[in-house]
Amino acid sequence: MNFVMDSHIALVGLPGSGKSTIGRYLARRWSVPFVDVDVAIEEQIQCSIREFFAKEGEDRFREVEQDVLAQLLKKPEKMVIATGGGAVLKPENRAQLARHSLVVYLSASPHEIARRLQKDTQRPLLQVGNPLQRLQELHGIRDPLYKEVADFVVAGSGLSATQVAQRVAMQLELGASR
Ligand code: S3P
Repeated sequence: MNFVMDSHIALVGLPGSGKSTIGRYLARRWSVPFVDVDVAIEEQIQCSIREFFAKEGEDRFREVEQDVLAQLLKKPEKMVIATGGGAVLKPENRAQLARHSLVVYLSASPHEIARRLQKDTQRPLLQVGNPLQRLQELHGIRDPLYKEVADFVVAGSGLSATQVAQRVAMQLELGASR
């Protein structure tokens, strides 16, 4: 398949929806670079996101996130970009994503994500007594925003990351060959 990416492809969705795993798969399949925005942020802040949240707070994190995302989206070389789960909260980010990338929403149920992230210690927003309840709250707020910005919605519940990645690839390749 000779699929040519003519814009960045950005993956959005809740933490644990598979953005990084699926993004890596797609980038390998299409021989383009893969960038994980969380990793780019950590390179910039020189500490873990968890530490940064604790030291500087969420608002400051969102400013850095906005800046790093905008820089990445401006790059001329087309890439697959895994965004952080909260990137869609800022209207500026949604506008930048819509303008510079094809956006894929990896939708998954809070129950399934809570199961996948049972042992996670790195995501500051989920270090709470009841992570499922927190994920349900995040889903309630963000699901409409993910849908607002998405060009494609791919439902991942009940599927492995590879299966979801293959679905995304097929949809985009089919769309491009029309
Ligand atoms: C966040 C998700 C994280 C990271 C930060 C905030 C969120 O990224 O950006 O902890 O607000 O949901 P992942 O979605 O890659 O876990």
